[in-house]
Amino acid sequence: MSIIHCANLPALLLLSLALCGSPSAGAEALPAPALLQTQMATPPAVVTVIEPHLSVKGEPPVRRAYLGYPAAQVLRQLLGADWNRASNSEIEFRALDGFVARIPVERFAKYRAHLVFGLADAKAPFSVDNKAQGEKDVPLGPYYLVWDNLAAPELLAEGGAQWPYQVAQISLRQASPPALLPPGISSEQWAEHAALAQKFCLSCHQVNGFGGDKMPLNLAVRAKLLDERTWRVWLLTPQAFKPGTSMPALPEAMPQAEREAIAAKLHAYLKALPVLP
Ligand code: HEC
Repeated sequence: MSIIHCANLPALLLLSLALCGSPSAGAEALPAPALLQTQMATPPAVVTVIEPHLSVKGEPPVRRAYLGYPAAQVLRQLLGADWNRASNSEIEFRALDGFVARIPVERFAKYRAHLVFGLADAKAPFSVDNKAQGEKDVPLGPYYLVWDNLAAPELLAEGGAQWPYQVAQISLRQASPPALLPPGISSEQWAEHAALAQKFCLSCHQVNGFGGDKMPLNLAVRAKLLDERTWRVWLLTPQAFKPGTSMPALPEAMPQAEREAIAAKLHAYLKALPVLP
């Protein structure tokens, strides 16, 4: 199965728009880092994190120092002072490669994030090896969202799911759109499952037209076609199923029992989710 990369297709702009969907309404294009620095009241800061894309289970964690601004400061600057006031809302980070992370606003109150645009060592290329996806030298710019996981080690278990890179657009949105919990299924029963799908899967995949453009297959359809065992193997050890695949496993830093529980919950939810026309 081939993956359509939505970035870097200027000559095929119309085609890429047709394939990848038009830019989402209400989204703010991020200014280039040089321009952002003229708009911000303070100079950028160095932030050191454990880099989840470089850290592999069983090996010492890899630290990296980046240069950027506290995410809250940038969001206030670009989305206005009320960006974190509305309840049940989330920030969407849309990346050049079609990856779309949607992060609940409350998470920014609980944990410190930075929007970075370079390494502290200005001579080092702003790129990373994405070990979970078997990709080398992946460009991170224009912006990369990193979390202070030295102050909050519990974030280490999540891997890179909430660390969107190549971020070019942000927007403030209502959480839990109807696509995730449509009429006909109990939102009480499935809200937690839908949030797991959002966090771990819908940055690349979709349900009923909602989600990312990196690999826009409809999981509500696909889950119904795959038996429990195949589903588990895909989510827990995709490399065993298809060596060389860029589908990332559920974060390996998480306890195995939790990974298995999440895989089972996602399967149950996506099988229950109606396929909308
Ligand atoms: C970083 C992007 C990314 C994320 C996140 C991701 N996937 Fe995938 N997924 C892929 C890619 C790319 C493929 C195609 C892999 C291939 O064919 O080599 C794929 C393939 C699949 C397939 C197989 C489809 C088939 O051929 O039958 C399933 C099922 C799947 N993903 C489910 C999930 C679920 C469930 C999650 C969340 C736990 C998830 N994916 C998270 C990128 C992603």
